[in-house]
This record gives sequence, C-alpha cells and structure tokens, in this order.
Amino acid sequence: MQMFEYLQCPLCRQPLQLTDRTLRCENNHCFDQARQGYFHLLPVQNKRSRLPGDNAEMVRNRRSFLERGHYQPIAEAVTALVSTHLAKEGIKDNKNSILDCGCGEGYYTQHLAENLPDGCQLIGVDISKDAVKAACQRNRQMTWIVASGAHIPAADNSVDVLTCLFTPLALEEFQRVLKPGGLLLIASTGPNHLMQLRDLIYEEVKQNFFDPEPGLRAVFKNAHIYNQHLEFAFQLDSNPEIQQLLAMTPHQWRASAEARQRLEQQTELAVNADIYLHCVELSR
Ligand SMILES: C[S@@+](CC[C@H](N)C(=O)[O-])C[C@H]1O[C@@H](n2cnc3c(N)ncnc32)[C@H](O)[C@@H]1O
Ligand SMILES: [Zn+2]
Repeated sequence: MQMFEYLQCPLCRQPLQLTDRTLRCENNHCFDQARQGYFHLLPVQNKRSRLPGDNAEMVRNRRSFLERGHYQPIAEAVTALVSTHLAKEGIKDNKNSILDCGCGEGYYTQHLAENLPDGCQLIGVDISKDAVKAACQRNRQMTWIVASGAHIPAADNSVDVLTCLFTPLALEEFQRVLKPGGLLLIASTGPNHLMQLRDLIYEEVKQNFFDPEPGLRAVFKNAHIYNQHLEFAFQLDSNPEIQQLLAMTPHQWRASAEARQRLEQQTELAVNADIYLHCVELSR
C-alpha cells in the first residue's frame, strides 16, 4: 500500500508510523486499518454529529451520477492544473504529496491517481465514513482517511497540492499543511450552475452564489491567485439520472412537494454546468 509520509496523530499531533496495518504515534495512540482499507483518524471531539458528512444514499447517488461521465471535463481540468503546477515546481522522486480534502467517493482523486506522473503520493480525506468506504473500492493502493478538513491529520508544511472540490473550506488549516510554493485548488459552482434544474425547483431562481476569492485573498497574502472558468452542457436521459443529480445538490433539501412532483414527471433534461476552479499558488 502506498503510504503518506507525513501523517500526524489526531490526538497529540506526533508523527504516525505504519506497522502491521496499524498507525501508531510515540504516545502509543493506535489506529487500525479497517477491513475496507481506510484509516479512521476522526476523534469523537472533532465530530459535530454521530455520522458527519454525506450519508450512504448520497454517496451512492453521487457515484452513479459521476460514473456517467458528465463531470469528466471538471476532472480533466483539475488534473491538468495539478500536473502543470507539479511540472513547474519539478517532480520530486516519490515525494510529491497531494491531498484531496472532502474526496467524497473518490471520483476526482482517482482521476488524479490515474493521470499524474509517477512520484506522487495521494491521499483522500473525507469526514464521511460511507464516502471513504466507497472510495476504497476505487483504489486499494491509495491512502484513504476518515478525518475532518478542519483538523487534517498531516504535519505542518507537508503537502504540495491540496484540492478541495465542492467541499466546505478550512482555509487556515489548509495554509498550515501546505508547503511554501504549494498549490491550493478549490472547485466551486458559479451563478448559472444547473440553472435548468433550479428552474424546475424554484418559482424564482436566485442568482446568489458563494465566491471564495475574498476569503482566499484575506488568508493567503502574497499568493498568486487566479481562476479557470468551466462552462459546458450535458444531457440527462432518464428520470433516475435527474434524481441522482438532485440528490447530489443542496436543492434536494429545499425542493417543495410540488417541485418534487414536477421532477418526477421529467424524463429528460439538458443542463449547463458553471464551475470555477480557484488556484492559490503559495509564495516561497
Ligand atoms: C459535495 S461533496 C463533494 C465530494 C467530492 N469532492 C466530489 O466532488 O465528488 C462534499 C463532501 O465533503 C465532505 N465533507 C463535509 N464536511 C467536511 C469536513 N468538515 N471535512 C471533510 N469532509 C467534509 C462530505 O462528506 C462530502 O463527501
Ligand atoms: Zn498520538
């Protein structure tokens, strides 16, 4: 199994060493590898609920939707930005550490694993045990960890590239673990994302959206910050596909009974994706 060198004990922050499928720190805190292959490094005090993050059903819907390839342009753009950064910084022999925070069921992480040059150590982190279990099925060689993005179990200045795709941000924590000269890559949705789906759900579609850039500029002073805008159309050809897309978005909680009924009748939908990839290149 490929191991991430810079793992840190979530209880005392000392380095973790792997022996016989157990991660152990010098204070003898032990974390056994689960049968599925992941490590659980989420102490109960870092959980806000008993089962935090996406539940099993959300994970299943996300996997079914992503497996259809509609978001492949996003995966390709993310991998290209990471590759370009690594090429610019110079690939170090088996030493480039890439951490995907909020990896979900591992679609984008696996795309990185398959397409980045040799010499990258990848690690996927998510607060949802169900998501991480599903991610293990994609790749048994990678390190998958249940942990919170707000308490990443990695040493200070240990990560070359941190991706955070459609996942809550913990900017100060990302800054702690990233190396000087490292890259933070954030994916967020723009104002027109899934407009046709939102049109079916809401009487009046709101244009407000979350722009992470002011927060990035406030935390990462002197960094080079830029973004890539992705817009593309895709076609959903069945009602289950439409329901899967709905189940991946926060709109599933907000849809009224009438909106759900409208969506039940829908057997096809042409949809536009509106995505921003924000890059923060830290100064040296
Ligand atoms: C919208 S999903 C995106 C998953 C994946 N990046 C993708 O795009 O397919 C958001 C993910 O963030 C995870 N998540 C939520 N809060 C988190 C936290 N504090 N730390 C780590 N992961 C978190 C959820 O469990 C979920 O898997
Ligand atoms: Zn410890």
